[in-house]
Amino acid sequence: MTGTCFADLGNDVVCVDVIQEKVDRLKQGISPIYEPGLEELIQRNLKAGRLIFTTDYAEALTGAKVVFIAVGTPEAEDGSADMRYVEQAARSIGKIAPGRSEEPLIIVNKSTVPIGTGDVVGKLIAKECPADFPYAVVSNPEFLREGQALLDFLHPDRVVLGSEERWAGEVVAELYEPLNSAVMVTDLRTAEMVKYASNAILATYISFINEIALICEKMGADVKEVVRGMGYDKRINAQFLQAGVGFGGSCFPKDVKALAHMAETLQATPHILNSVLEVNQQAHEHFTEKVILMLDGDVQGKRIGVLGLSFKPDTDDMRESPAIDIIQGLQEKGARIQAFDPVSEEASQRYLHNVTYCEDAYEAAEGVDALLLITGWNEFKQLDMQRLHAAMRGTVFVDGRNIYDPEEMKKEGFNYAGVGR
Ligand code: UDX
Repeated sequence: MTGTCFADLGNDVVCVDVIQEKVDRLKQGISPIYEPGLEELIQRNLKAGRLIFTTDYAEALTGAKVVFIAVGTPEAEDGSADMRYVEQAARSIGKIAPGRSEEPLIIVNKSTVPIGTGDVVGKLIAKECPADFPYAVVSNPEFLREGQALLDFLHPDRVVLGSEERWAGEVVAELYEPLNSAVMVTDLRTAEMVKYASNAILATYISFINEIALICEKMGADVKEVVRGMGYDKRINAQFLQAGVGFGGSCFPKDVKALAHMAETLQATPHILNSVLEVNQQAHEHFTEKVILMLDGDVQGKRIGVLGLSFKPDTDDMRESPAIDIIQGLQEKGARIQAFDPVSEEASQRYLHNVTYCEDAYEAAEGVDALLLITGWNEFKQLDMQRLHAAMRGTVFVDGRNIYDPEEMKKEGFNYAGVGR
C-alpha cells in the first residue's frame, strides 16, 4: 500500500517481501488484500515502471535513499506486539545496505511498534553493518483505515515523523510534500506514542458509547438520538460514537492491548485501557445474549442468518471481527448458522466452522428464525424488508449497527432490536 502510493506520487519504488508467491502475484498486478482501488493503482504503476516487486533485499537497497519497514506486528500470546518481523527486516537491511549507496540511508519504520522500538531498530542495524555506515532511523506511524486506505494516504489528516536526527525527518517530510498535509516532525518515541494514543482514544470512544448504549437500553433511551444531541457540542465528535457490536480489526484490539501491556510492565496501571477492552468484549457477549433472549432463551437447533462477517465494511479482514465471538457463542448453544458477506467468505473460513455460506442477504434469510446484521456494508442499508420477511421462518431481526428504524421495522412485522435503543 505505502509502496504503491509512493510510486504513484512519482517515486521509483522497489517492494520486498520474503514470500515468493506473494511477490509473483504482485508482479502480475494481483493485490494480496481486498482494498478498494489498490489493485488498479498497483497495475498502473507496474506499467509505468515505477513499481517493482522482489524477494531480493539487494535489488531493493541498491541506490535507495529511504527504506520503509512496513511488516506486520501481530499480537503475541501475552498481549505484547510480536517484533520478530521488524527485527528480521532491520537485520537484513543492516547486512545488505552498506556499500549500495554513497548517501546516508534513512530507515523509516511504518509498522506499529512498542514505544522505544525505533531505538532497537537502530541498534540491530548497527550490529550488522560496519561502524562507518551512515544511516538514520525515522518513525512514521500509519493512520490508514482499512477499506479507505488509498483515500487516507492521499488525504491524510496529518503525517507524523519522529527521529533523533531532524534532517532525516525533513527528508521523509519531502516525500509527503505533494499531499499538502500537516506534517509534524518530533522525536522518535513521541511519534511512536502518537499512534498508540490515537488508536486508544478512538477505541475508548467506541467502548464509551457501547457502555452508554447498555445503560440506554435499561433506561428506555435511544443511543442514536443521544449521540445526535451530544454532537451539537463542538467539543464532542459524534463521528466515532456509533454504538454497535464492538470494535475489531488489526489495530484497535491489538494496539490497546499492547499499550496496556507496556504500561503494566512499567508499573503504570492502565485503568482506562483495561476497561476499554473489557467493555468491548462485553459488547460481543451482550449482543449474543440479546439474540438468545429474543429467541425465547434457547437457540438449540434454531437457524440463524448472519449478514456481514468482516470487522467492518469494505474489507475482507476477519481479524478480531465481532462476528467470530457472536457466531461461536451461538453455535456453542446449538444454533445453526448461515451467513453472507460480500467479500469475506474465504477469509472467514480460518476463524469459523460449520457455517453455511449464502450468495446474498436474501438467501441468508431463507428459513431462519432470526437474522443478525453484524457488518454495515452499504448493500445491507436498503434491504427489501418484505422479501426478507417472506424468506424467514421467524421474525427476529437484531441490528448490530443500528442501521434500521425500530418503528419502521415493527411495521414491517419484525421483532426488531438494535443496540442501545
Ligand atoms: C483504525 C484507525 O481508524 C486507523 O487510523 C488506524 O491506522 C488503524 O485502525 P481500522 O481498523 O481500519 O482503522 O478501522 P476503523 O474504521 O477505525 O474501525 C475500527 C472498528 O471500530 C470497526 O470494527 C468498526 O466497526 C468499529 N467502530 C468504529 C464502531 O463500532 N463505532 C464507531 O463509531 C466507529
